[in-house]
Amino acid sequence: MISSLLFFFLAADSGLPEGKGKDVVENVCTECHTVERIKTQRHDEEGWTAIVREMIENGAAINSGDIKIIIDYLTKNFGPEKSKQGPERTQASGRPLSEQIRHNLALPAHTR
Ligand code: HEC
Repeated sequence: MISSLLFFFLAADSGLPEGKGKDVVENVCTECHTVERIKTQRHDEEGWTAIVREMIENGAAINSGDIKIIIDYLTKNFGPEKSKQGPERTQASGRPLSEQIRHNLALPAHTR
């Protein structure tokens, strides 16, 4: 039972929110780790810019034209908790419980 749930979870798609940039993030950012690494983080634009730059230093092959798309996507969907630009952020109670828990556990190493 548990293993079939796990299988379902692993077989499901990345679960990234729809939007411009999702494909790029899915293609580029899953080469070395899963999107869980990304989904559990919250950063503003500056923070994501620093992370993407770090990933490029790690060896991520990102087209220069995609960098801004990636950062915009991440900032919009995984921005700071009290982001003014994302009305969807206020609907925390509408999300799956598992995501909320993961969300609450998400204390990034480099919280500013
Ligand atoms: C070339 C390999 C590679 C690619 C491609 C890559 N990453 Fe990473 N990423 C890493 C490594 C290595 C770490 C550090 C792993 C660790 O500390 O355990 C990491 C860690 C992270 C973390 C956690 C940072 C932290 O300090 O906790 C985030 C967020 C992240 N990556 C986002 C991204 C995003 C967004 C992309 C796509 C733009 C991406 N990664 C693509 C290699 C990569």
